[in-house]
Amino acid sequence: MFKRVPGTKDILPNEIISWQWIETIARNIFSLYNYQEIRTPLIEEAGLFNRTLGESAEIVQKQMFLIHNQEDTYALRPEGTAAIVRSYLENNLDKTSGFIKLFYIGPMFRLERPQKGRLRQFHHIGCEVIGSPDAGLDVEVIALAEHLVKSISIENYKIKINSLGCPKDKKKLTLALKEALQKNIKELCADCQERVKKNVLRVLDCKNEVCQKIVHELSLKSTHLCPECAANFEEVKTGLKNLDIPFQVQPYLVRGLDYYNRTVFEISHPELGSQDAIGAGGRYNNLIQELGGPDLGGIGFAFGVERLLLAAKNIPVNLDNNLVYLISLGSEAKSNSAKILNSLRLNGIPSDTDYLNKSLKGAMRAANDAHAKYVLILGDDELKKNIITLKDMSSGTQRELTLENLIKELKC
Ligand code: HAM
Repeated sequence: MFKRVPGTKDILPNEIISWQWIETIARNIFSLYNYQEIRTPLIEEAGLFNRTLGESAEIVQKQMFLIHNQEDTYALRPEGTAAIVRSYLENNLDKTSGFIKLFYIGPMFRLERPQKGRLRQFHHIGCEVIGSPDAGLDVEVIALAEHLVKSISIENYKIKINSLGCPKDKKKLTLALKEALQKNIKELCADCQERVKKNVLRVLDCKNEVCQKIVHELSLKSTHLCPECAANFEEVKTGLKNLDIPFQVQPYLVRGLDYYNRTVFEISHPELGSQDAIGAGGRYNNLIQELGGPDLGGIGFAFGVERLLLAAKNIPVNLDNNLVYLISLGSEAKSNSAKILNSLRLNGIPSDTDYLNKSLKGAMRAANDAHAKYVLILGDDELKKNIITLKDMSSGTQRELTLENLIKELKC
């Protein structure tokens, strides 16, 4: 028997309720903030990610699912931001809409070592706002992210923020870090020894305890920021305070992707173990230009849906179900059931019946398992009298109705 690929998951019908629940809440929240949905392809040219995430980013180095054909190398998208900026420029949205607020929901792919909360196919709920460097947007995007987290009953989350500053500030931070880490370079893990050479900021993200201790002893502050970026960061923090959004400034937060500058943030949950980031994001003011577009600001975030589901407390086991379950007993009644079901459905009433020839008891059990709101019972005698029994499954009460009145009753 074939098995699913490691690090992928089947989302079975009994689990889909929680997915639909989160997706519906997310869609409603995005529409409250006036974001529009975008869907881009699952495959992109691999070069798009090499160029924007950075050649030394872990995703590019080790985690891309690559598809080689004769001339091109494609990648299953490891994230949404680069693809959305590509789409924004390719479709001339910079010339038509200019400023745009987008959201997306869909699968992403990274060739990681699978573990709890870390998959090879996982799902993002994310957003990207392109066309403005305004600090007010940083506040809005973080507020939206918190709104989403709260709405799906996640508690004890932590919002960590930092500012990387402009490209010049990032360079300053890089040089200062390189210098500061030189004296402990031999104590760093093998990966970090390489990172010091290639992308020293990644050392700050390392989970290795020794590396973390060394980094913390550096007592980093926001001294790399130029006056403009420092003022911008102050504006973001003031904006968050005005909205009572709790946050911690975390000078070690750099995020592993090259395209970030200025504000970066991460939302973590203490109960998720080593993979505790439920979502993350930040500004990418140079990405649009990097991909050949104009000098416009951009900011966004993405949540990992699998991790949101691990952190959420009150996931509903079944959504509101108005299903009507028809049980027909006797050959005449059975031959009429398709007609009744058809008219229920054409009138917008969700309905189903038993196709396994079950007894009344068995069919009632099936109705119960399907969380039916009502059961309709039709026997040959009832059919002759033109009546049908309607049972309310929550109260257990039942009454008889004429077939003509059935639709009217169920619709109100
Ligand atoms: P990211 O931090 O790479 O950011 O991913 C965002 C979230 O996706 C993580 O916080 C985590 O919850 C989830 N995630 C990442 N990798 C996995 C995995 N292997 N298995 C399960 N969940 C995972 C980005 O992708 C950026 N594009 C976010 C962004 C949008 N920045 C600006 N706009």
